Amino acid sequence: EDVSYSEAIQKANASITRFPLIPVKGIPLMNHIANNWDSIWAFRPDPSDILIATYPKAGTTWTQEIVDLLFHNGDAEACRRAPIPLRSPFLEIWSPPPIPSGLDLLREMDPPRITKTHLPFQLVPPAFWENKCKTIYMARNAKDNLVSYYYFDCMNMAQPEPGPWEGYIHKFMRGELAWGSWYDHVKGYWVEKEKRNILYIFYEDMKENPRREIGRIMRYLDLSVSDEVISRIVELTSFKNMKENPMANYSFIPASVFDNSVSAFMRKGEVGDWTNHFTPEQSKMFDEDYEKQMGDVNIPFKTLI
Ligand code: A3P
Repeated sequence: EDVSYSEAIQKANASITRFPLIPVKGIPLMNHIANNWDSIWAFRPDPSDILIATYPKAGTTWTQEIVDLLFHNGDAEACRRAPIPLRSPFLEIWSPPPIPSGLDLLREMDPPRITKTHLPFQLVPPAFWENKCKTIYMARNAKDNLVSYYYFDCMNMAQPEPGPWEGYIHKFMRGELAWGSWYDHVKGYWVEKEKRNILYIFYEDMKENPRREIGRIMRYLDLSVSDEVISRIVELTSFKNMKENPMANYSFIPASVFDNSVSAFMRKGEVGDWTNHFTPEQSKMFDEDYEKQMGDVNIPFKTLI
């Protein structure tokens, strides 16, 4: 049966709950992902496929939209052909039928496919590295990433309940949220970036100078678009425009799954919103732990404090 993506989610409605997390090689993942792990691990991309990797809420959708627009020479209409998970499938996602899995969606597409993953480096299917697929990793400062994930877990009925804010900070620090430790995630890709030719970018840099960062992505992907097209992509991928774009803002996910009345998927899109959420004591406690967890690798996050 041919059902559209949002219809498929409507149909699966009754079986969507806050799915429990099950560890895969020590990383907590949603149960459907864990239960189908062997197929995910065995996925073989084409060498031309692109991987966009992030810790959840680090700016994945923003990067996906930029890359799709670069591939389409800034053609806004072409990039409104379908909702973002159909233009750029989520590699490991697996939901109750009839919702297609990420692998189902990828199989229907021709390379080069723009694949999204939240898997930590060591869980990325090894064929991505064997085939030397281009990989863009976007990292976001820990406290803003945490705040964004907290709101997302409030509104996303498919992930475990966040619980109270203070406890959530501790879950984040202990790596107990879906897809595991933020610290291990950002470090895992950082230490592999030369060997695997990963383009490692920062959310804060993209906010500060999107033209420069989009240019870096363009050159990394061996694409060439005019300055005028870059300007158009900057405009089309502004927070305001993406928030209003129904093919990018996740409004195609039914409210029973993403409850935008609790918190919008396109929530705020700012740097430093953590200052509105952490108390001075929480911030101090977080920073002390951060030093311990991040002391072994020097990643140039500019705006943590
Ligand atoms: P906030 O919750 O801080 O607003 P992901 O795509 O990885 O799920 O990340 C979502 C976060 O990126 C949200 O952060 C969202 O608002 C932000 N975001 C999405 N598109 C953006 C854009 N064009 N510019 C800035 N931030 C954006």
